[in-house]
Amino acid sequence: VTEPDLAGRHVVVSAGGTREPLDPVRFLGNRSSGKQGYALARTAAARGARVTLVSANAGLPDPAGVDVVRVGTAVQLREAVLKAAADADAVVMAAAVADFRPAAYAAGKIKKKDGQEPDPIVLVRNPDILAEISADRTRPGQVIVGFAAETDDVLANGRTKLARKGCDLLVVNEVGERKTFGAEENEAVVLGADGSETPVPHGPKEALADTVWDLVVRRLD
Ligand code: C5P
Repeated sequence: VTEPDLAGRHVVVSAGGTREPLDPVRFLGNRSSGKQGYALARTAAARGARVTLVSANAGLPDPAGVDVVRVGTAVQLREAVLKAAADADAVVMAAAVADFRPAAYAAGKIKKKDGQEPDPIVLVRNPDILAEISADRTRPGQVIVGFAAETDDVLANGRTKLARKGCDLLVVNEVGERKTFGAEENEAVVLGADGSETPVPHGPKEALADTVWDLVVRRLD
């Protein structure tokens, strides 16, 4: 039996991966499936929370009893997260947000020109949503959680990222060819701004989600 320990709380979860368009048919994207974010949304709803799920290109069915806001790009994801975060008790940024987007969008499909090399793709920085919401907490006591995928020096890089972003918890997982992205299972360490370190053994994405909510609930009380 699940404890309704998030009853009366509003939580916001971002999920999926942003797509940054180059022209009407092409985009720069990433391999995030959205499964971890959807597991976070489902488990929070099961624990009694009102849940807003900001979903970027996940292609997964809407979880029952969750408000789903669909977005495409990082800029749209930022708008939706900031709006939903205004009255949220917790925000979990599980989405893979593109760090950069193409500087220009071509209104017509980009064509190859005979005998010519292609134009380079110029990128500009996207806003860092996690750093922004962590810096401007919209309510006292709001708990903010980030995710980080690292390929090496997982704990050291995680600690540096946690400090740089200013969030309360950072879920760090090691990624590789067949690890994490699109998989049904995950393995992670949850780092706390208070110095805590909670290892989560290899298991279903729901189990990691429940551990994240346990740590959030402890900080909300
Ligand atoms: O810096 P990095 O992309 O590794 O950080 C990952 C964390 O930051 C994730 O929680 C992701 O949702 C968030 N993020 C963000 N805005 C960005 C890039 C990442 O909120 N532009």
